[in-house]
Parts: sequence; C-alpha cells; structure tokens
Amino acid sequence: MIPELSNPSVCMRDPQRVEEILQSMVKAGSNTVQVIADFDMTLTRFAYKGKRCPTCHNILDNSNLISNECREELKVLLDTYYPIEIDSARSIAEKLPLMVEWWTKAHKILVQQKIRKDRLAMAVRDSDAMLREGYQLLFDHLQEHSIPLLIFSAGIGDILEEVIRQAGVFHSNVKVFSNYMDFDESGLLKAFKGELIHIYNKREGALLNTGHFQELRTRPNVLLLGDSLGDLTMADGVQDMENILKIGFLNDKVEERKQSYLDSYDIVLVQDETLEVPNAIMLHLTGNK
Ligand code: TMP
Ligand code: MG
Repeated sequence: MIPELSNPSVCMRDPQRVEEILQSMVKAGSNTVQVIADFDMTLTRFAYKGKRCPTCHNILDNSNLISNECREELKVLLDTYYPIEIDSARSIAEKLPLMVEWWTKAHKILVQQKIRKDRLAMAVRDSDAMLREGYQLLFDHLQEHSIPLLIFSAGIGDILEEVIRQAGVFHSNVKVFSNYMDFDESGLLKAFKGELIHIYNKREGALLNTGHFQELRTRPNVLLLGDSLGDLTMADGVQDMENILKIGFLNDKVEERKQSYLDSYDIVLVQDETLEVPNAIMLHLTGNK
C-alpha cells in the first residue's frame, strides 16, 4: 500500500478495492493512464490561512474589471446558490435547475460588463488564486511521462488557462474543457461560447467531446480528481474504460457530506489542501515510488 494512503486526511470505504484498482493500473502500465481533473477547489485550494480562495468566477467578482454594482449582484447570487450547491439534504435532480439558474444569471451579468480580454491576465495576477500544494510535481510529472491531463471545469476557461499559464504548468499534455469567453473584434466580452458547462452536466459535456476520448482510446485507465459529486461524471466519455480510481476532495460541510462522498469516491480527502495523495498515486503508477 502507498504510505500516503494512511495520511489522516484519507478516508476510504473499501481500501481493499482501492488496492485492487491500483494493482491493475500498475500492471497495465502508465502508458494506459489518463488523468481527468476538475479545476475549482480540486486543483486550486479551497482555503489558505483560514481564508477562502477564489474560484475562476470569483477571480472576476473580486477584480476591478466589473462595477461595484455587478460585484454586489454576483455576491447575492453566490450567497444564494453556493449553500444549495453543497446542501446534502437536496438531491442532484433538485439542485440541477437551480445551478443552471446560477450560471445563467452570473454569465448574463458578466457579459454586461464590457470585460476586456487583455485585462484578464492582470485580474488573475492580482487575485488570491492558489493551486494546491504539490501542483508543480503533478503537472510536471504527468508531462514528463506523457500522461494526458484533461481539466474539466464549470469555471471559466480563459481564467483557468491564465492561472496555470502564470504558474508555469500549462504544458502540452494539458487539455481544457470549460466555459470560454467570446470577445468581439475590439476585445470586449460579448458572450460565452458553446454549451454551458455547470456543475451537474459534465456527463453531457464529456459526451460532446467524443473526439478527445477517441484520441485517448489506448488509455482506458483513469485517475479522476474532483470535489463535487457532479465531478463523478467527468469520465463518462472515456471509451472502453477498464479501471477508474476516483479521488474526491471534501472541503466543506464535512460531517454532513462524508457518507455520500465515501459512497461515490474511492478515496476521500478531508480538508486536505495538498496534492500529496494524488501525487503519491501518480508516482506509484509511473513506477517512481
Ligand atoms: P467546478 O469546480 O465543478 O468546475 O465548478 C465551478 C465552481 O464555480 C462551483 O463550485 C461553483 C463556482 N461558481 C462561483 O464561484 N461563482 C459563480 O458565479 C458560478 C456560476 C460558479
Ligand atoms: Mg470544483
């Protein structure tokens, strides 16, 4: 067993099953592996020194690219819908239309703000966005071993790319599915492109991208990293899947949500702000540990 799986943050419903999945993945070899990760609160930190870290959307909310009035409106939305997002008493079916409502309203407000494309990098630079501790090893090691990393996010693609670019880890093995901004010829935000990705339609998003999964059909072993129960469907487009190891960060409302996370993720990381466990697993799969 990997020593990090005994870390105090690690909870597993069935450690034996985790061991079996790992053994079959090691046997198949790292050239059969692909990694699919959510971004906000999975690759990025949930909190730092007791203060919440921003999501892609929050990077804009907190920036000077939007008016104070818009900031207020987005804050009202966040205060209304985030508690619903993490409410363990409501089913996904019940939450889904409300999440669509949140994203739709937030994007509508943002589009009215004449956000300039050339100011996004500055907004990211000035933000408190932080990738989880150990991100460098994760991104660099996957790149060195030519393991594809799909970042599948209901956040904002342009912002997310900027975060990983500024961190120096937007390597050639990284592919992003997300909500991308559409700018007019003068560089002002006019809309969001394509189908909206929200936290509960990642399955549909995955199925729209069959080309990507077709290219990766020789990699039927998946390491999935997420923080929401909606992230569990990110791998639904993977063809002829053989093994999947699902690692879930449980950041907030721990006691209420722990059982549902244990029931659906193979490994649950409770209030763990690091990538230590995913990194140890990755090193194990590539024979470096
Ligand atoms: P994801 O992590 O599943 O990709 O989802 C993106 C996160 O973005 C989700 O946790 C909710 C959050 N969010 C905001 O913080 N502000 C917003 O305005 C919206 C629409 C989403
Ligand atoms: Mg997330």
